Amino acid sequence: MRTLIPLAALILAAAPAVADTFEKVKIDAGASLFDTDCRRCHATDATDPSYGPPLENVLYRAAGSIEDYDYSIALEASGIVWTPAALRAWMEDNDGFMPGTKMRHVGIKDRTVQDFILAYLTSISTRDNTAIDQ
Ligand code: HEC
Repeated sequence: MRTLIPLAALILAAAPAVADTFEKVKIDAGASLFDTDCRRCHATDATDPSYGPPLENVLYRAAGSIEDYDYSIALEASGIVWTPAALRAWMEDNDGFMPGTKMRHVGIKDRTVQDFILAYLTSISTRDNTAIDQ
């Protein structure tokens, strides 16, 4: 018993570290995928010029809500919020999900790839949009 307690304590202490490492791996993988699939059109810093709207703080942001960005009518009028599920549907088939959007079709159907990109988008969403009355 004497040896079991410190061991249990060690396992408990290590568990969050493993979870953190796994999350970091997902974020890094997501960053690479984002660089390949999204970054040519999306800056992640609102002060950088980009063809698509900036995606920092996109999680739980109201769709079409970047002030100076010239959205399609479809996106601006959609009334949706960028939940993880909405972002998945968007990555999977954006123009099927929202006919009339001006974003060129992306078809990321692999759930793991979606997971990684979502982890990255979450990591660059430091503002709590759920606290904003939209
Ligand atoms: C070829 C350029 C292009 C690529 C590649 C691209 N996008 Fe977009 N994206 C756009 C444009 C343009 C819009 C604005 C669409 C509209 O107004 O209908 C947009 C809009 C969005 C929005 C809505 C943001 C808001 O403010 O409401 C999200 C979320 C998004 N893109 C995510 C992604 C992700 C994730 C990827 C990579 C998997 C990606 N996009 C790849 C051009 C692109």
